[in-house]
Amino acid sequence: MTLRDGRLNVPLHESFKKLGSSVEFDKRLFHEDIKGSEAYTKALCKRGIIKKKEEELILKGLREIEKEIESGKFRFKEEDEDIHMNIERRLFEKIGETAYKLHTGRSRNEQIVLDERLYLMDVTETVKKKLGGLLKAILGLAKRNIEVIVPSYTHLRQAQPVSIAHLLLAYCYALLRGKERFGDFKKRLNTMPLGSGACAGSSIGIDRDFLKKELGFESITRNSIDAVSTRDFIAEFEWICGTLFITFSRMCEDIIILSSEEFSIYTIPDELSTTSSLMPQKKNPDPLELVRGKSARVIGNLFSLMVLMKGIPYTYNRDLQEDKEGLFDTVDNTLLVFDVMTELFRSIKLNKKVIAEKLGESKDLLFATDLVDYLVERGVAFRKAHGIVGQIAKFAVDRGIQLRKIPIDEYKKFCSSFAEDLYEIFSWERSVNRHDVPGGTALNRITEEIKNIESISTSNL
Ligand code: ARG
Repeated sequence: MTLRDGRLNVPLHESFKKLGSSVEFDKRLFHEDIKGSEAYTKALCKRGIIKKKEEELILKGLREIEKEIESGKFRFKEEDEDIHMNIERRLFEKIGETAYKLHTGRSRNEQIVLDERLYLMDVTETVKKKLGGLLKAILGLAKRNIEVIVPSYTHLRQAQPVSIAHLLLAYCYALLRGKERFGDFKKRLNTMPLGSGACAGSSIGIDRDFLKKELGFESITRNSIDAVSTRDFIAEFEWICGTLFITFSRMCEDIIILSSEEFSIYTIPDELSTTSSLMPQKKNPDPLELVRGKSARVIGNLFSLMVLMKGIPYTYNRDLQEDKEGLFDTVDNTLLVFDVMTELFRSIKLNKKVIAEKLGESKDLLFATDLVDYLVERGVAFRKAHGIVGQIAKFAVDRGIQLRKIPIDEYKKFCSSFAEDLYEIFSWERSVNRHDVPGGTALNRITEEIKNIESISTSNL
């Protein structure tokens, strides 16, 4: 018996075969599908729909099928549409008519969301582990370089001196939020949909609590229509990945810029570089550019899913089949990119000598805000001090001199509150350490935050 031997009784038109078949991509859910079928078989037996002997026969058949798929011996057939029907067909080939009892009271509408939920439970754990590895690599780089001071940038123009670790910890906090989001997402994901039937709920009184325990879920879905209709758990996963990819993309952009000849703050290892087919001297950051490129696609996958969902009437509609390729693509690229990013932060080099030279020769306009603070501490109103230092900065730029080279008499012409001790502000360490608030770049604060990140990232979020 195939699905078409009843109501339709004619073969599916050739033109629809390819469009309708999802087995080419949903076959990767075979573990989850078999796990779901095993639990369902036991529930059917418990309910008295199948006998113990039949239960054993089905379970044995399913185990063999799983092995066949794992070893690559299984022959998937396009005409069987999806992973569910491929397995059912093979089960029939193996154990005969008893195979047809497995689907009693069950619908593929609930089966597919069960598979997807099980799959994402697993994937989320893997992603969280990889995220932990990346955090560790970034923290390692930060710890080794707390004392390396670099200019920070706003509008890609030099702003204020910061420890490079401060920038690296910014990445860490974005990643930690990702980890936290996955944890929170799992609470909603961890809900068992089986027993929802096609849309109205099981008509054979299947024991949903038994299924929940058997499959290791925390709770069961509370509305059968919602259970088969929603894909918001997939959208949520894709959003978390998309948000992580925005961070990956920006980290890569930072490193591409800061490793360019003009900046030379980082050196990307040769193993993560490429060259040009024409210009033999080139060392290009292609892997980082590709991560930036992948982010477009991962964000795109989220958008296609949301657009896919927005116009479908409740409950299940076949459009929903289109949720999978984007999801798998997002999962594959997320796992891949975590490995690249982790390797990058493990092996990237900071050019401390170049950084020191650059800071030394850089116009000390980076101290302008410290100069404003100096005046403010001596009672000048901030807005006035800002204007005065602005004029001094212009004076220095116009004459091509450093702020620290302007004589005190000259400073006094701008504001009588200046005194000899103003020259003490021209120290990178002093400037950095003055930003001594929780979350600031003062070195003691960074040490504090490293400890904080280490303890959060090892806790089970
Ligand atoms: N391949 C389908 C999907 O991914 C499985 C559910 C099919 N259900 C149905 N009523 N045709 O959504």
